Amino acid sequence: MRLRDVEPADLDAYLRMRGDPVMMTELGGPQSPDRIAGQLERDLDTVRADSAWIKMIITGGSARVAGTVTLYAHGDISEIGWMILPEFQGRGLAGEAVRAVLGLARADGRWGLIHAFPSTTNAASNAICRSAGFALLGEEQTVFAGRVFQTNHWVFDPAAHA
Ligand SMILES: CC(C)(COP(=O)(O)OP(=O)(O)OC[C@H]1O[C@@H](n2cnc3c(N)ncnc32)[C@H](O)[C@@H]1OP(=O)(O)O)[C@@H](O)C(=O)NCCC(=O)NCCS
Repeated sequence: MRLRDVEPADLDAYLRMRGDPVMMTELGGPQSPDRIAGQLERDLDTVRADSAWIKMIITGGSARVAGTVTLYAHGDISEIGWMILPEFQGRGLAGEAVRAVLGLARADGRWGLIHAFPSTTNAASNAICRSAGFALLGEEQTVFAGRVFQTNHWVFDPAAHA
């Protein structure tokens, strides 16, 4: 597994992730191709400005995109999120990629506390938070894409994992 910054050629992977009703079940539902293309443009801009990390997960020897991990400032907090394409799920890739990004964040030092808000029903994402060293603050309702989700609020302190 390796990580690289998002590129314009990642539109296909974006469409497959964000346009997929199953993958987007707990992320507000599938998005339109226009909206997804707009998101990619904004993500490319934030990476050029170095104001967010939008990392694509690349597997093994191939150059294939398996998923993505994002870390961005959201209001006054830093928030991390992740997605793995269906054919790459269940191999530990999300956990490995999230731990790698947390390691980069620790070395970088700018992010402060890192928050994650998986749905309470998202067993794999909650397992990732637990095993990566996040602390569970409790449940809260989170508005995502205009819908309200019951989420767990996890927080990771990079400084405490130095
Ligand atoms: C959630 C998602 C990222 C998991 O990706 P993945 O690569 O299959 O996850 P991993 O193989 O790294 O497994 C992560 C952990 O979840 C556990 N897990 C996986 N599937 C599980 C399940 N159905 N029930 C319980 N635990 C599960 C694994 O054992 C592993 O636990 P560990 O960290 O303690 O070893 C992927 O299914 C996905 O992209 N889903 C759609 C989008 C989404 O929900 N994104 C997250 C929003 S917060």
